[in-house]
Amino acid sequence: MTNQASQATEASQPTKATTPPLWLLAELTYQCPLHCPYCSNPVNMEETFNELSTSQWKKVFREAREMGAVQLGFSGGEPLLRKDLEELVAYARELGFYTNLITSGIGMTEKRIAKLKDAGLDHIQLSFQSANADVNDLIGNKRHSFKQKLNIAKLVKAYNYPMVLNFCITAQNIREIEEVMTLSTELKADFVELATVQYYGWAYENREHLLPTQSQLVEAEQAINRYRDQQSGGPKFMFVTPDYYENRPKACMNGWGTTFLTVTPDGSALPCHSAKILPLTFPNVKDSSVQNIWEHDFSFNHFRGDDWMPSPCKTCDEKDKDFGGCRCQAFLLTGDMHKTDPVCDKSPDHHLMKTITDKAGQQASSTLKFRTVKNNIPVKMIQDLTV
Ligand code: FES
Repeated sequence: MTNQASQATEASQPTKATTPPLWLLAELTYQCPLHCPYCSNPVNMEETFNELSTSQWKKVFREAREMGAVQLGFSGGEPLLRKDLEELVAYARELGFYTNLITSGIGMTEKRIAKLKDAGLDHIQLSFQSANADVNDLIGNKRHSFKQKLNIAKLVKAYNYPMVLNFCITAQNIREIEEVMTLSTELKADFVELATVQYYGWAYENREHLLPTQSQLVEAEQAINRYRDQQSGGPKFMFVTPDYYENRPKACMNGWGTTFLTVTPDGSALPCHSAKILPLTFPNVKDSSVQNIWEHDFSFNHFRGDDWMPSPCKTCDEKDKDFGGCRCQAFLLTGDMHKTDPVCDKSPDHHLMKTITDKAGQQASSTLKFRTVKNNIPVKMIQDLTV
């Protein structure tokens, strides 16, 4: 099978049995006050300029809920930049969703958190770039952001939210893992995700700088275990390591088109947040209902089941566990989205992982590429302004 799914195949592919989407990720905007070089947003930020309206988002929520979706993540970019966030949260709660705000905290104020509480927001996940103020501000490329995050963390507690923190772990901050844990304890966090960056979007662009070495990961894990041994109470820490060092791929998205539905700021419906990089045409919620998209669109059906699987996945006794791994990773690393994820040591492309991980810590270039819109202004936008 070729890398590009053809239109002829598109027309003839039958609809496959589906389970309803349980988790809806609403990427409200790709605009963000921070510029983290590991952001998973698309490198091509064209959609930044063409966001769904409040009523269009409400339609998406209604249709997803009617299908059985129960969790709604408000994400971005920075979802706080949407002035209608409180209205959208209130509507989602009215529909019966469990609502989660995934935020950098920048733009949150006491007035806003009070309004979000009134709207029924259930959960806030607050991200930090580092436990060190200078490193935090440098990675996010925003001065005083660390101080603002500390204040927001206190507000999250004051408004009786569970304190859920997320630290993106990279080669730049992995050595300070103990400081991260100490800060989390001081902030009285309940749950802390120490998540080594996954290499999609901007993180893929900057992978040579961001990927920790295996010995850095081992040392971090030892430090985490030491800290846990000394802990009495306090936060629960979860350490997520990069799958680049594994021998089996992750069951990405719990299988394509089984559980997760992402809707991007411009209304594209995707089976995962990175899928737009794939040579598939994705539908838009402006043109079709969520149910029609989920059940009948070619792109959602394309990797459902195991008909699409190549060797060695096709005959593998673990195919129901990992579903052949991540389609986006297969595409990024091999150029073919239909291949077995090269993380799997049964894949003929597994040698690619060693080539990449052997280079960790030996950056060929000297600069990180910050996530910024300014290098991504669509030509069409300039044309629209000049006609
Ligand atoms: Fe797209 Fe894994 S991130 S399938």
